Amino acid sequence: MTKVSMTVNGKAVSGEVEGRTLLSTFLRDGLGLTGTHVGCDTSQCGACVVHVDGRAVKSCTIFAADVAGATVKTIEGMANPDGSLSTLQQAFQDNHGLQCGFCTPGMVMASAAFLAENPTPTEAEVRHGLEGNICRCTGYHNIVKAVLQASGQDVSKIAAE
Ligand code: FES
Ligand code: FES
Repeated sequence: MTKVSMTVNGKAVSGEVEGRTLLSTFLRDGLGLTGTHVGCDTSQCGACVVHVDGRAVKSCTIFAADVAGATVKTIEGMANPDGSLSTLQQAFQDNHGLQCGFCTPGMVMASAAFLAENPTPTEAEVRHGLEGNICRCTGYHNIVKAVLQASGQDVSKIAAE
C-alpha cells in the first residue's frame, strides 16, 4: 500500500492505495464519491469520466497512484457554489437528457470538458465528442440538445424526442 494525495473537487485528500487501485475505485470506495459510476470493465461506457487536470478521463482506466498530485473534479464538484445546478446540468434537466441517470455523471463530465475545448459546437461535433459515452436510455438526441443549449445555442427549433 502506498499513500496517495491529490486535490478532489477543491479539497486536498489522501488515502492508502494498492498499486492496482483504479482511480474510480479510490473515488468511490476511498472517498465515498459514488457519483462516479462504473458501468463496464472494458473502458467503453464512459460512466466513470472525471476531469484530471482539466481533461476528461475514464477513471476506470488509470491507477489512483498515477494521479498523485493532480487536480481531479467529479460530478459532485459540478454544481454551482450555492448548490444550484450548473448551466450544463440544468440543460440536461431542461431537455430530458437523462432517464435512468446511470450514464449522466460521465455524460456531464465529458460534455463539460468537450465544451471547454469547443464552446459553440455543431450537433455533429457534439455527437462525435461524446462517442466515448454510452447511454442505454435516451437515444442520445436529448443529450446532444442539452449540450447545444449549454453552449448558448437556441435549441427551441430542434424537436424533442
Ligand atoms: S466504467 Fe469506465 S468506461 Fe465503463
Ligand atoms: S439515462 Fe440511462 S443510461 Fe443514460
